[in-house]
Amino acid sequence: MTDRFEGPKGTFDYLPPTAGTRAVVERTVLGQARLAGYQLTETPVFEDTGLFARGVGQSTDVVQKEMYTFADKGGRSVTLRPELTAGVVRALIEHGRLGGLVKVAFSGPCFRYERPQAGRQRQFHQVDIEAIGSPDPAVDADVVLVGHEIFRALGIDVTLLLTSLGDPECRPAYRERLLEFLRGLGDELPAEARARAEQNPLRVLDMKDPRVRELTAGAPLMRDWLCAACKVHDDTVRSLLIEAGVPWVEAPRLVRGLDYYTRTTFEWQAEALDAAQDALGGGGRYDGLSELVGGPPAPGIGWALGLDRIVLALERAGRLPEPPVQLQAMVLPLTPAARGTALVLVRDLRRAGVAADQPYAERSLRGHMKAAARTGARVVVLLGDDELAAGQASVRDMAAREQGRVPLEAVAARVAGIVAGGDPGAAP
Ligand code: HAM
Repeated sequence: MTDRFEGPKGTFDYLPPTAGTRAVVERTVLGQARLAGYQLTETPVFEDTGLFARGVGQSTDVVQKEMYTFADKGGRSVTLRPELTAGVVRALIEHGRLGGLVKVAFSGPCFRYERPQAGRQRQFHQVDIEAIGSPDPAVDADVVLVGHEIFRALGIDVTLLLTSLGDPECRPAYRERLLEFLRGLGDELPAEARARAEQNPLRVLDMKDPRVRELTAGAPLMRDWLCAACKVHDDTVRSLLIEAGVPWVEAPRLVRGLDYYTRTTFEWQAEALDAAQDALGGGGRYDGLSELVGGPPAPGIGWALGLDRIVLALERAGRLPEPPVQLQAMVLPLTPAARGTALVLVRDLRRAGVAADQPYAERSLRGHMKAAARTGARVVVLLGDDELAAGQASVRDMAAREQGRVPLEAVAARVAGIVAGGDPGAAP
């Protein structure tokens, strides 16, 4: 007996019908992005490690603990991308494509070495949009609106959490103020929170530990420390969202796990999922990212949706948007001599847009008819010696229980007509 293999820990096999659901979700997201003027893009799955270290940020869990980093055979340090934003910004800089407002959409696998659980994997799939090149708060509102419309189209109830993380003008002073507050809590603050405070005090605010929550209930909040420009930006985004009918919940403690954010930051949460993995997507503005990774000034904003979590949310709600493939016609070669003709017929049927297949098994006519009925195909095309000799096929409408001979070259059109005609048993 040979040893069997299992998928690597933290990975997920998409099999039918879940894989179909995932494809529908991806098409929906990219379709809505296209309607909003985002152009498809694609970047490599691995990048120079330094890009993420610098772009995503040294102090983040993603960079410190979760990256799949290795030396390739040429001795270069490369990393499987933990997210998509840094890579696309790198690509736009490298190819001189920044300038004006650039809107891109893309989709692909990302990798984070996390503790696997439902909705948290080591390989997961993000669909992402980025609008780069404008500081205009109207862009923020539109980016959020596109996400809102996607969840609407998918029929998923989400809560939009929204805040502003300020900018290099006001955040340093706030950070100092917060650090002072956290240090003031002394040993009362659990050790993990104390360590985080020294690295990135903002990240203490989104810790789930109830003790930390309680102790930091009175902590200073970024929104009270925004500089005048950030405040105007934030107020404008909010009033635009109100006009567009996009509701949100204030989330002054929302920090997000990536360091590049400035100003508008947001996350969509789903009630259907467990609290630790309830973010179906998130994003925000990153006005300094391009410069951070060696590019020109290019203020940007975007989001990424977690495809796997969206699929999970749909499944938990008992909704599978795409039914499994339903064959519409089965072609039955009843004699070995009919195999070539059968192959030509399935080709012609598929060209006519009819989902068609053959049984690839030797059976009696009775056995064939039973098996064909089990597939649920509406039409069965029979190719016996008689039919072949006459250059014809017998076309049987399984729903109407009608059968007739049709010249081979007319089979595809006849079957397509039956399939398009609807169910004869259904009320008119
Ligand atoms: P993020 O919040 O780190 O943002 O990830 C976006 C989404 O990816 C999450 O909301 C979640 O649905 C999904 N996700 C993240 N990690 C996992 C995991 N281990 N397993 C399953 N799903 C996961 C970003 O990555 C930013 N690049 C978003 C962005 C784009 N900001 C600006 N532009």
